[in-house]
Amino acid sequence: MKIFIDTANIEEIKQAHDQGIIDGVTTNPSLVAQTGKSHKDLIRDICRLIKKPVSAEVLAVTEEEILEEARILAKIHPSVVVKVPLISEGLKAVKKLSEERIPTNVTLCFSPNQALLAAKAGATYVSVFMGRLDDVGHSGIDVTLQCHHILTQYGFKTQILGASVRHPYHIQTLAEGGVPVCTAPYKVLTQLIKHPLTDTGLEKFLADAKKSDI
Ligand code: E4P
Repeated sequence: MKIFIDTANIEEIKQAHDQGIIDGVTTNPSLVAQTGKSHKDLIRDICRLIKKPVSAEVLAVTEEEILEEARILAKIHPSVVVKVPLISEGLKAVKKLSEERIPTNVTLCFSPNQALLAAKAGATYVSVFMGRLDDVGHSGIDVTLQCHHILTQYGFKTQILGASVRHPYHIQTLAEGGVPVCTAPYKVLTQLIKHPLTDTGLEKFLADAKKSDI
């Protein structure tokens, strides 16, 4: 499974990249706003740091404006994947971008039917927001697995991307279900690495090794 990091924080991207655990980066307008940098500069900096797909989101909501913004973002670097909202105008834009071979990440997907339509429009990735589904009493895991099942059943090339990940169990269930991609904040990636038995085991090995040195 490909693991993307969901952040606009350069230091977090660098840490995870150095650990060799990430296959790409996703950003969104809220994450970009936290950095205080210009969107284009930030995406350029991330693309220089990591030679893997970097999702950058458009702010436009009409087909023409989405296309205009998407083409500008795509010109920043060949690694850019343009994030487009799952709305009617967005799907029209995704169809055209797919014809232009500009990769897309259709974002804010909350149902299997939406995922199916994004795949038909030619999306490269469809981001299903698991945590936000959980927040309103649905099962983010179930919806994401249903989306993946539908796309694989019909042989779409579009990849389901489990997003809005809040805890390690989200990622484990995506991996067990064969979902090809997930994106998680740095905090959750750190939680994936850690296990209390690893820490106590290491502590004991190091203490025992000191004894044998004497
Ligand atoms: C996906 O690409 C989004 O950036 C992200 O996963 C949203 O997560 P949130 O619901 O924690 O804001």
